[in-house]
Amino acid sequence: MQLEESRATASQQKEVTVHAPGTVANLVCGFDVLGLCLNEPSDVMHVKLLDEKKVIIHSKDGYKLPTDPAQNTAGAPLIEMLNELDANFGFEVTIEKNIKPGSGIGSSAASAAGAVVAANHLLNNTFGKEDLVRFAMFGEKVATGVKHADNIAPCIYGGVTLIRSIFPLDIITIPAPDLYVTVVHPQIEVRTSDARQILRKEVQLKDAIKQWGNIAGLVAGLLKNDYDLIGRSLEDVIIEPVRSILIPGFAEVKLKCIAAGALGGGISGSGPSIFMLSTNLQIAKAVEKEMMTFYNSIGIDYNTYVTTINKEGVKVVNYTTASISNINAIAS
Ligand code: HSE
Repeated sequence: MQLEESRATASQQKEVTVHAPGTVANLVCGFDVLGLCLNEPSDVMHVKLLDEKKVIIHSKDGYKLPTDPAQNTAGAPLIEMLNELDANFGFEVTIEKNIKPGSGIGSSAASAAGAVVAANHLLNNTFGKEDLVRFAMFGEKVATGVKHADNIAPCIYGGVTLIRSIFPLDIITIPAPDLYVTVVHPQIEVRTSDARQILRKEVQLKDAIKQWGNIAGLVAGLLKNDYDLIGRSLEDVIIEPVRSILIPGFAEVKLKCIAAGALGGGISGSGPSIFMLSTNLQIAKAVEKEMMTFYNSIGIDYNTYVTTINKEGVKVVNYTTASISNINAIAS
């Protein structure tokens, strides 16, 4: 590539701030292959260009996440990016996390995706979105031990994404009708690595047939703006029966939300958050009320969000320009 060009241009935009949104992975039936991007909550990340090859991570949020860049979900993707560029520069990252780690709404993916989009902006968009997903998956590997893109891809592309394959990457954005998303995050932590560990390694053919029928139905429902089809496809006969035992009151909350008018929903990512899709704000709020009433009744603290699908993904909100001496130092 025009690496010198990208370094020189990079140096003219020395620091960038991005909003990295939460995401709902799996969308019930599409384990590891479907996800959507949320308008709320989102992390704020500041990324600065450094004139030596290193990655520095600062955390401004009080969460005890590793600051060793190789062990950090924002740091690992940046190391990969710098290695691929054979770079003589680096990045300093400050993370203000609003998406609680272990919540099931894509906290690790937001850090990874936010870091690579911000860095790419500083590099004058050297890389395409698919490359950014490829780098960001190194963050998921650090967080969960496995590369998966069903939070990363919607976080970078926005909207609803289908990850048909990760090796090689094949990401398809799925146009979706307007939908409201209600999320409840009971304040317990479920580590994605644990929630993956408990899954059965084999599935029965009859379950697989149901599951792929639902995935196809959900994608078709989204493409055709068919709310009924979306609703009846939000069924998971493989993962949910196993994972739901980790979430207090899961079955009851789900039933109450559907009775309140939600199209359907289920575990957000690997949990413990639960999400529900609704066709309008009034229903989405009634669903939130059901969630709150339930968790109040059993005495578990929670957060809720009533939001919509974020069509844009990680958003650059600010950048500042370097001085001439920095430009010379970095471009030389
Ligand atoms: N597909 C992943 C899982 C998403 O369910 O383990 C984690 O957020």
